[in-house]
Amino acid sequence: MENMALKCIDCGKTYEAEAIYRCSCGGLLEAIVDISSLKKKGLRELFDERFASRTMPYGSGVWRYRELIHPLASESDIVSRPEGNTTLYSHKKVSDYAGVSNIKLKHEGENPTGSFKDRGMTVGMTEAVRLKKGSVACASTGNTSASMAAYAAKAGLKSIVFIPEGEIAFGKLSQALAYGSTVLQVKGNFDDAMGLVQESSDALGIYLLNSINPWRVEGQKSIMFEMLQQLSWSSPDWVAVPAGNLGNTSAFGKGLKEAKELGFIDKVPKIASIQAHGANPFYNLWHDDAKTLSPVSNPKTVATAIKIGNPVSWKKARLAIDYTKGVVEEVSDQEIMDAKAIVDSSGIGCEPASAASVAGVKKLQEKGIIKKDDSVVCIITGNILKDPDATVNYHLSKLSGIIPKYPNKPRVIDAKLDSVRKAIQ
Ligand code: F0G
Repeated sequence: MENMALKCIDCGKTYEAEAIYRCSCGGLLEAIVDISSLKKKGLRELFDERFASRTMPYGSGVWRYRELIHPLASESDIVSRPEGNTTLYSHKKVSDYAGVSNIKLKHEGENPTGSFKDRGMTVGMTEAVRLKKGSVACASTGNTSASMAAYAAKAGLKSIVFIPEGEIAFGKLSQALAYGSTVLQVKGNFDDAMGLVQESSDALGIYLLNSINPWRVEGQKSIMFEMLQQLSWSSPDWVAVPAGNLGNTSAFGKGLKEAKELGFIDKVPKIASIQAHGANPFYNLWHDDAKTLSPVSNPKTVATAIKIGNPVSWKKARLAIDYTKGVVEEVSDQEIMDAKAIVDSSGIGCEPASAASVAGVKKLQEKGIIKKDDSVVCIITGNILKDPDATVNYHLSKLSGIIPKYPNKPRVIDAKLDSVRKAIQ
């Protein structure tokens, strides 16, 4: 069992933990967690001790759960910033907006590079080090590239990012450049970049660090473990998450299943996976109860992080929605940006894609699927500073097709006290 670390989700074939991401049948692989051997070990108590003491590497909100994340990694291999330990916020403004009194926002934008990606990246990069890889690559709508660039720099590995030309937010591009990645701007969209990075990694022997890599998913599970631990191991009714390439939705389903099987929780929260209307292949799949995903060929949304038409992890994500008896919803760009304005003006702040979770909860509440007195945790996936252009353009009414409901326009005044008096009345 020690060596049999990966299993195909389609045909069940098992592999040792090695540098592959797909089974010979083409299916995605997932890491096996040997629940039966872990059941008797008092793991929850151990995690609570580590949560209280915060000594490294267990001070990381990922490696705290090491036995469930990557038991084969030795301490000297771990590449950690550290990550996690993100806050659960609540604010009346957000509750009133969503129409749900008990709604909390778990702010993954508080991670070292400003997004949840760091939780998967610490594990993926640790695996790259463990396998003695010299270079790593990813395709990205921005946050994965920012995270991979930083962790590769820390580990001393060469990193190459494939991004759709002109399509990623400036905060994210600036991070990838600053942390020293080789940045390849692909003429095409994210899905083209994703195809190219897989072909290039195979042909050139580069270790691929997209969420198709099962170790990324293992790291992202920790968002669920940490959320449950912060809630004293009592599950909310719902967890809402923005959905693009579907790594997070997949990871949440796996983490919640393991938490339930290990007896950490009695009840499994339902996952609400929220897509942008213009980039909604997973919503269509779920809504139509289709057998296979029909990609959206020209995805469009102001939330560039989730502007993805052909998500690689759709099969795993579907298993996650089925297992938790969850739902998939879609929201418009208008709904995303108005929800963001509410999250921002409550002092919490987020990038556009993150607000899809709050917009989705509001919509599901209005449809009666989420009840007003249900408990809900929304995952805020990225920091407000990731995409300042979207924020400023919203407030200046410069986002095409969007009429801001909550604009906060700057005012130009003469350099006179009287002008100040008039302006702030
Ligand atoms: N929110 C943010 C801020 C993201 O950056 C992403 C994905 C998502 C939500 C969607 O998560 O892909 O797991 O469904 N960003 C990837 C990237 C695709 O390249 O940074 P998902």
